[in-house]
Amino acid sequence: MSLSQQLDKINNKTYKVGIIGLGYVGLPLMWTFHKKEMPVIGFDLDPHKVDCITSGTPYIKHLGEEMMGILSKSDRCEATTDFNRMDEADALLMCVPTPLNHHREPDMTYVEKTTETVSEHLREGQLVILESTTYPGTTEDLIIPILEKGSGLKAGKDFYVAYSPEREDPGNPDFNTSKIPKVVGGHGNDALTLACALYDTAIVQTVPVSDTKTAEAVKLTENIFRSVNIAMVNELKVIYHAMGIDVHEVLDAAGTKPFGFMKFTPGPGLGGHCIPIDPFYLTWKAREVEQPTRFIELAGEINTNMPRYVIRRTLEALNHHKKALNGSSVLLIGLAYKPNVDDDRESPTYKLMELYEEMGADVSYYDPYVPVIRPSREYPHYAGIKSVEWNEETIRSFDAVVIATNHDEINYRELASWSDCIVDTRNAMKNASQDSNKVFKA
Ligand SMILES: NC(=O)c1ccc[n+]([C@@H]2O[C@H](COP(=O)([O-])OP(=O)(O)OC[C@H]3O[C@@H](n4cnc5c(N)ncnc54)[C@H](O)[C@@H]3O)[C@@H](O)[C@H]2O)c1
Repeated sequence: MSLSQQLDKINNKTYKVGIIGLGYVGLPLMWTFHKKEMPVIGFDLDPHKVDCITSGTPYIKHLGEEMMGILSKSDRCEATTDFNRMDEADALLMCVPTPLNHHREPDMTYVEKTTETVSEHLREGQLVILESTTYPGTTEDLIIPILEKGSGLKAGKDFYVAYSPEREDPGNPDFNTSKIPKVVGGHGNDALTLACALYDTAIVQTVPVSDTKTAEAVKLTENIFRSVNIAMVNELKVIYHAMGIDVHEVLDAAGTKPFGFMKFTPGPGLGGHCIPIDPFYLTWKAREVEQPTRFIELAGEINTNMPRYVIRRTLEALNHHKKALNGSSVLLIGLAYKPNVDDDRESPTYKLMELYEEMGADVSYYDPYVPVIRPSREYPHYAGIKSVEWNEETIRSFDAVVIATNHDEINYRELASWSDCIVDTRNAMKNASQDSNKVFKA
């Protein structure tokens, strides 16, 4: 099928979009294309996610029940674990994890395995797009060789390849997938034209760039920008605290400048599947070209040390009440890494739990979004632990309460009346209590 026939199919909305990996990125992407009347087929190794889509059961809390209900009833949407059906799709969009391994280097096993599977089913004319965050050069040096070897087809001639980073911000009420401009790099002009035409059906704007490695670098640049700026405000927080200045008041006031300043907020450390990880995809790759990555390393160092600063402030807070951390009971509020989502990947709350336990504290957590801790690779020993209940008797029973994540639905006024020792890493208590004998900013 020629390029113009493929474009016609997109315009006629008969072009089938295959999405591989139905997690925080893949599921909203599936929904976005579905809403614009494109036929979609989702693939995942995890039968639970596939069953949930088929039955209309939500598995990502902030995405809600309505969306799952619509997807499950639609005759334009299917989810399957049967990878033999990949040839049904006109495009295959890969949205699989890209974590770090134990040496803090890119772990490309998910991307490699997925690409190998795609290569076994690849047919002429298909468009393959990698959406996972990765280092510059992945598409050209890793993806295309695997696809060509497994299929016997030639990229740019027999099939199309592009890279388009996902910029999804789960739980952000102002920006969902369809409203976030999509950067696209193609392996050749035809791939770029086809990929842009596809995203144009469902996404507010496409931003074509010269090639796939530029698109890969765009995503890393965005997340390094965040990591460096978060590190800067975290450092300022510690300095200003020593000077008796409230960093939040400074940042709120600085944020009124209409140009040349962008407000970032300090916290207990970095969390989530992106900011703590993605910068190190570039440090790893930069070694190949013998370039130092000092900003990235320094930001990583400052952000990684933040949980230790929170511990120090907890020691000071308990000391104020003539108590030691050793033997105290500590309640951590918020296991998710950011407000109003259920994503606890790389959450600094886990690091805090470990550090408090090392100091002899007895630790519990409260999070309405994470009622039970799911098994994870990094913290398998916490799996199965349940959130405490939110009531006066329970909250009063803790020697210290540490706000790690400021979910909106937490009643901070109740907290102020129930606890005498609150360590606040998010400025969540600002409207609930100004009592400096009770609230200790960290
Ligand atoms: N979560 C975010 O906010 C976000 C934002 C922007 C970019 N990203 C990037 O998007 C990518 C995906 O992240 P995510 O948060 O959606 O991950 P996720 O863990 O939520 O989802 C990934 C899904 O891929 C599935 N999977 C793994 N290997 C597979 C395979 N071989 N075949 C089929 N399915 C497979 C998993 O079962 C899982 O359901 C990552 O590169 C991430 O860095 C994530």
